Amino acid sequence: MNLPFEEILKLGPATRAIHCGEGVDAETKAIRRPIVLSNSFELNDSSETLPESFDWDDPHAFNYPRSRHPNATYLEERLAGMEGGEDCIVSASGVAAISGAFFTLLSAGDHLISSRICYIGIHGFLVEHLSKRFGVELTLVDTTDPAAVRAAVRPNTKVIHVETPSNPTTLVSDIAAIAAIAREAGAVFTVDSTFSGLVQQKPLSLGADLVMHSLTKYINGHGDSLGGAVIGRKDLITQIRLAAGMHLGATISPFTAWLLMRSAATLPLRMKQHGENALVLARFLEAHPKVKFVRYPGLESHPQHAIAKKQMTGYGGMINFGLKAGREGYFPFLGALRVITHAVCLGHAESLVQFYPQEGDHPELGVLNYPEDIGEGFVRFSVGLEDAADLIADLDQALAQVRPGGSVGEC
Ligand SMILES: Cc1ncc(COP(=O)(O)O)c(C=O)c1O
Repeated sequence: MNLPFEEILKLGPATRAIHCGEGVDAETKAIRRPIVLSNSFELNDSSETLPESFDWDDPHAFNYPRSRHPNATYLEERLAGMEGGEDCIVSASGVAAISGAFFTLLSAGDHLISSRICYIGIHGFLVEHLSKRFGVELTLVDTTDPAAVRAAVRPNTKVIHVETPSNPTTLVSDIAAIAAIAREAGAVFTVDSTFSGLVQQKPLSLGADLVMHSLTKYINGHGDSLGGAVIGRKDLITQIRLAAGMHLGATISPFTAWLLMRSAATLPLRMKQHGENALVLARFLEAHPKVKFVRYPGLESHPQHAIAKKQMTGYGGMINFGLKAGREGYFPFLGALRVITHAVCLGHAESLVQFYPQEGDHPELGVLNYPEDIGEGFVRFSVGLEDAADLIADLDQALAQVRPGGSVGEC
């Protein structure tokens, strides 16, 4: 597809997911993009041998694949089109994409405000590296409260970063409200939108400058590759491409980019099904006598349901729930599951669960913003694409194994 940006924005999400970045291969006339493994590209005979005369702005000009290669470009075009962003850079993982962006945008002495509850790998990068080792001032705040974000702003605030919905607790932050605060502060506003699965939340249209995704999750969807993306303002993406692509080097492989491009084509359909299944499962769990609490942004009982309803077109596939049992009560439940797999990661076709113990196991995260009634832990449930009835039956038989245990909670 070869349409200008304004025309792409008029297309529906399914059309963008299928056509953006796709095109006919000039040599073979194949209607699928080939995988280009070459690690060097012929330069024009005129002047382009000098780095300063190479056209870095042309996404189809290649010299060395650490900076850019054809399969990365095709995927970037697809994701930029799907998200509605001017430009995109893809990286080897979600952490690589986000760390690449922050290493580019922040220097020692700059101030960063971030969601206090965010994916533990990002939390560790911000606290242990950016803050403790590289001298970036860091304030972790409860971003579900825009007033707390406003109160944290300093004259040197350079970036405000929000993860919504948050991993693991599905907290929802008001993107438009925080965008206004960032604008006033003159800060770059970045949103990690991984949990939304891209098609159900459009932070750029709500005022974000950059959107980040772990492509490993819903965009891949098949549990077989790792990737990350930053999408948004062209001037910022160009800076990140030059700094992160050239100097940090966490480049995605051509094969992985090709796989992710293939997966992205079905993302709108898959997200619809994830969302439908998740709502059915969340309602089932909420009504179950052995379940202590359920958090799903699509449930009226979710503390930020109204904000989720305002800014999301679907609520994704991620649920948290706690059992009416102490810590020990979780293990028979997890062990009894037969269709649902106990494993890390999320956004796969198959349903996955992971047990998150209470404070003490992850002291750096604390319990602030965790559900008040968390007891001795909770389950993060990535609802897959299986038949909902089979997932309900599996949960039901595993919940039958739950016995009160440990010191907290009772059946
Ligand atoms: C919200 C969020 N952001 C970023 C990441 C990091 O992505 P990756 O595992 O692809 O590095 C994850 C991983 O779980 C995540 O959940």
